[in-house]
Amino acid sequence: MDSHREPPMFRMDSLEPFVDELERPPVAVATGMRVWHGRETPSYSIPISEFYAKVHRDMPETRFWGYGGTFPGAMIEARRGQGIVVDFANQLPSKHFLPIDPKIMGAEPGKPEVRTIVHLHGGRVPPESDGYPENWYTPGHSLATYLPNDQEAALLWYHDHTMGINRLNVMAGMLGLYVVRDEVEDALKLPSGERELPLVLTDRSFTADGQLFYPISQRPGGIWVPEFFGDVALLNGKYMPFAKVGAAPQRLRVLNASNGRFYRLTLSNGQAMHQIGSDQGLFAAPVSLRELSLAPGERADLIVDFTECAGTRVTLNNDRRPILQFRTGSKMSQMVRSIPAVLRPIRRMEPHEAVQTRRLTLDEIDTTLDDPMVHVLDGKRWHDPVSEKPKLDTTEIWEFVNTTDDTHPIHLHLVRFQVLNRQAYDVDKWLYGNKIVFLGPPVDPDPNEMGWKDTVRCTPGMITRIICKFEGYPGRYVWHCHILEHEDNEMMRPYEVIR
Ligand code: C2O
Ligand code: CU
Ligand code: CU
Repeated sequence: MDSHREPPMFRMDSLEPFVDELERPPVAVATGMRVWHGRETPSYSIPISEFYAKVHRDMPETRFWGYGGTFPGAMIEARRGQGIVVDFANQLPSKHFLPIDPKIMGAEPGKPEVRTIVHLHGGRVPPESDGYPENWYTPGHSLATYLPNDQEAALLWYHDHTMGINRLNVMAGMLGLYVVRDEVEDALKLPSGERELPLVLTDRSFTADGQLFYPISQRPGGIWVPEFFGDVALLNGKYMPFAKVGAAPQRLRVLNASNGRFYRLTLSNGQAMHQIGSDQGLFAAPVSLRELSLAPGERADLIVDFTECAGTRVTLNNDRRPILQFRTGSKMSQMVRSIPAVLRPIRRMEPHEAVQTRRLTLDEIDTTLDDPMVHVLDGKRWHDPVSEKPKLDTTEIWEFVNTTDDTHPIHLHLVRFQVLNRQAYDVDKWLYGNKIVFLGPPVDPDPNEMGWKDTVRCTPGMITRIICKFEGYPGRYVWHCHILEHEDNEMMRPYEVIR
């Protein structure tokens, strides 16, 4: 057991809060144009490299591995209809600094330790650019990725997706924001420039010397842990930063990029937040909230009106603990305060549009004493033959039957979908009798789940139903739980869009 003892940790609670200013991720700049499939296309080059950055004024520099030398990485700003090519150059060292488990699928002995492949989460991209987990490459190699941006304005994000070490690569820093804009959004004249603030939430733990700490299992011979929960939340890579905002409506674009942590965000003055969009873009109309829940992978587009808070300090809290302080300037005159009442029309999809309904279970499988429990999808592992093969341009209902005690945020690549409903069912009658017995009628999704989504919370004891049109491209993609520890250990499956 001794060998599993955790190292001394950094006393984060000894640090003075709100001494560092929140930083905006730098915006990536195109390096030029290049001809891609016969068309002039803006081209970007983003190194994946090791660098050091300060999480707090009074901490030593922390080693990160990430995109473009910052954590979070360089932010890519894209326009709908204008495709781009990004060269992601793997310039990492050849040894990993976080604990690889060679018993995990894809990370077996003999595989190079350091491997990367980038995925654009929420992007409608051709299969060869989607970052298929097995398409990883090693240091010294680069991959040109074509991203068409053929989709509505939304906050997407790009992150590592390497088979077997995805949780470690993202923990090390391989994540960044990707904004798609379009004319519908422009016409709404939402707060922009200084008044639009990206907020990336990641939780991390630090050793006494200020370095990232990722635990290993306490089980004999174990390394993989079923979930990572960091000691503290970082906002754009800083611990308890402050942000100066005008006494005006501010647009906050929030991403939960944590491996496993769910957030419950509130404002210290009890003020409402107006959510205007989620994973895949704008809502039909704003939704007013006092508390916002965000699962790993989910995004929220918020407007917070600081007009009445001129000259004061308001904190953003997670589970009632402050994680960010807003310092509000003095009142500005002539500021447009109203939030548009109508945003972007969303047609609710109807169950009868679906050509097929797939019942897919989220399961925990047999645990033995020296093997930790493993989560799988529909009883199958990564290497089982592809079983979900929707036809291009057809609509399907997928119902996720959660048989476990955890909430799993389920994400599908390529597509956007709508949440139809959730319905309680008798888990034991399913597990021990193979029968679905409902315990109540279907319940509507939350008001802020009525927009386009790409990640959905599947709560325990419930069947969560989504409806999805498989538009875009035929080919091989994946669907998975966005708790990265689950995803890495078999809670991910290939799926194929067929013609
Ligand atoms: Cu955030 Cu498979 O992705
Ligand atoms: Cu994704
Ligand atoms: Cu999960």
